Amino acid sequence: MPQKISIIGAGYVGLTSGVCLASLGHQVICVDKDKDKLGQLEKAIIPIYEPGLAELLKEHQTNISFTDDLAEAVKQSDVIFIAVGTPSLANGDVDLSFFEQAVVEAARNMQGYKVIVDKSTVPVGAGDWVKNEIKKYFFGEFSVVSNPEFLREGTAIKDFLRPDRVVIGCDNNDTRAKNIMSDIYCAIDCPKFITDLKSAEMIKYASNSFLAAKISFINEIANICEKTGANVGEVAQGMGLDSRIGPKFLQAGIGFGGSCFPKDVAGLISIAQKNNYSPLILQAVMAVNESQRDLFAEKIIGLLQKNNGKTAALWGLAFKPETDDIRHSPAVDIIKKLLTAGFNVQAYDPAAMDNMKAIFPSGQVKFCDTALQAVEKADVLALVTDWLEFSQTDFSKVKSAMRLPIIIDGRNFLDPIVLRNLGFDYFGIGRTDF
Ligand code: UDX
Repeated sequence: MPQKISIIGAGYVGLTSGVCLASLGHQVICVDKDKDKLGQLEKAIIPIYEPGLAELLKEHQTNISFTDDLAEAVKQSDVIFIAVGTPSLANGDVDLSFFEQAVVEAARNMQGYKVIVDKSTVPVGAGDWVKNEIKKYFFGEFSVVSNPEFLREGTAIKDFLRPDRVVIGCDNNDTRAKNIMSDIYCAIDCPKFITDLKSAEMIKYASNSFLAAKISFINEIANICEKTGANVGEVAQGMGLDSRIGPKFLQAGIGFGGSCFPKDVAGLISIAQKNNYSPLILQAVMAVNESQRDLFAEKIIGLLQKNNGKTAALWGLAFKPETDDIRHSPAVDIIKKLLTAGFNVQAYDPAAMDNMKAIFPSGQVKFCDTALQAVEKADVLALVTDWLEFSQTDFSKVKSAMRLPIIIDGRNFLDPIVLRNLGFDYFGIGRTDF
């Protein structure tokens, strides 16, 4: 049955969730404070880089509207999703200020039964805080649900509409909330895992932290492979055939970035420490990840110095392909290290250039219009983001354009044999046996 839904916060998660819920036939009101963003969305212009989202919005515009009037949206809805950002504070703690503000503003405008759904990634126990806060402003019946999101940037629509599971946390006796949430997701064919509030909140942190741990683990194995002559790609393939391990998230490289893994691992570390527990594994996950990008930058610097080089070309700036997002992108730290070491940096990315220009504004980095332009007279080509177009580039033209034919592949994305046969010196991560 179609539900009347408000979504507070039209960021990556809120906007994707709103458009997808509209595509399922629900009536959705997306609330955001950014009037420019609302104006673009009213014209079905999507302010984020997410393949397919603009088309899906255009297709279901009659089911979704955009406003900055949170009060009115709450009054008109039966279900209110809180999807505002919960970024990291400098010390790794979770910044709940936007979340708390949204909850209080919603509570002040509740006039009848509502389901308040925590879609934002919030610490374990936040749902109980929401309950107690609402009771300060609203004295009728209401439900609080935790419904964490698992979408990935670049595949957000698929991840929302065809997820492995939907997680719903609420009071065990809250049949009314369970029925409404089942209605909302009834068109999505996957396991609906219904549990308590705190477990649902922890599932989100634990899932992201485990995925991040898998990446840091294979990167640590890659570093040992590099010392012992094993090939981490072969190792990962052999490991992944064990059904208890699985082949996914075993791609060694320069580590994870993005707005979630770094934030959520740091957030879980903070939650643990606030509860007098020292999360050794989680701390090691972060340490390995930070050092992976440092090791890569040091390799580039070593190659430049060894060959009396001055210029490094970077292919890829976004934290991963199919996004323009540079939050915690390894490219930012790698560029800073190269500039500090006194090298020139030329860079190209299919989508993230404008975002990176905002970080390196004063001409420190030469931002190029094509992958080939970025390698002009370069002494080393460093592949930082595994955009498909890089593997489809004509490397004989790359070789002619470069001053020295040296490639260092931060994602083990290119073919060493092909490149070696073209006369390149190729270096990967955790693989030296070619
Ligand atoms: C992640 C989670 O996957 C998603 O479930 C959650 O909702 C949000 O955070 P996202 O950060 O968008 O999604 O991207 P993801 O595809 O998971 O990649 C995260 C990072 O890990 C990227 O920097 C990627 O390059 C890196 N990565 C991923 C690896 O280094 N190796 C891998 O095998 C997989």
